[in-house]
Amino acid sequence: MKTGKDYIIFPLDVSTQEEAARFVTILKDHVGLFKVGLELFVSQGPRILEVIQKIAGCKVFLDLKLHDIPATMKRAFLAASTYGPHFVSVHCDMGERFLKEVAVENPGGTKILAITLLTSLNKEHLKTLGYRDEYVNDLTRLVLLRARIAKEAGCQGVVCSGQEVAMIKRQFPGLIAVTPGIRPLWSVVSKDDQKRIVTPADAVKNGADYIVIGRPIRDADNPAEAAKRVSEEIESVL
Ligand code: C5P
Repeated sequence: MKTGKDYIIFPLDVSTQEEAARFVTILKDHVGLFKVGLELFVSQGPRILEVIQKIAGCKVFLDLKLHDIPATMKRAFLAASTYGPHFVSVHCDMGERFLKEVAVENPGGTKILAITLLTSLNKEHLKTLGYRDEYVNDLTRLVLLRARIAKEAGCQGVVCSGQEVAMIKRQFPGLIAVTPGIRPLWSVVSKDDQKRIVTPADAVKNGADYIVIGRPIRDADNPAEAAKRVSEEIESVL
């Protein structure tokens, strides 16, 4: 049975092994997974996954957001999966046929999460990039289209905002939904760049299987206590 903490993915948005190890040590009993993104992976290389495994023995989301020609994506994904991460992320805007080539061979059972649409992209960006009006005027259509592409290509899940998660889970209940942009009501993040935010409870109520929550925990006076508050909030809606 999944408990509140199992929903929490804590992003290790740091560049040194020491900082990463410090957060893993503090939070290992209070979160479900640690996320290793490009900053930490590029700075420290694959050995950081061993460090996390050694301290916490828990699951890792390797957030590489892979995006390249199919042959390169496939080889990069296979290389990443040899480190045994629970999730690896890929962009899904190269389309179903190409994604399928990546997803079809997955000997380690690593779950593939497709990024539907980066939350930093807005209407104006899409227009400048040449997207059709129907998508520019309604970003959720694009998010849903990409969720369908991800599902049909054989990806196990998607990353989507808390505002789209209910719709995605309604149409594709079998897809794992990972939701970033989470802000508990009590958290104050200075100069916050997250725009389409939801609370942990709302994200889970809307169907999120996991939430990515960084700064509200990292910047708290007591990060372990903050993570505990988040998991209690999630448990209140389970
Ligand atoms: O909670 P906070 O804003 O600090 O979380 C930041 C983390 O969320 C970063 O690791 C970032 O990569 C991730 N993120 C994401 N997808 C988004 C927005 C943020 O994975 N659309």
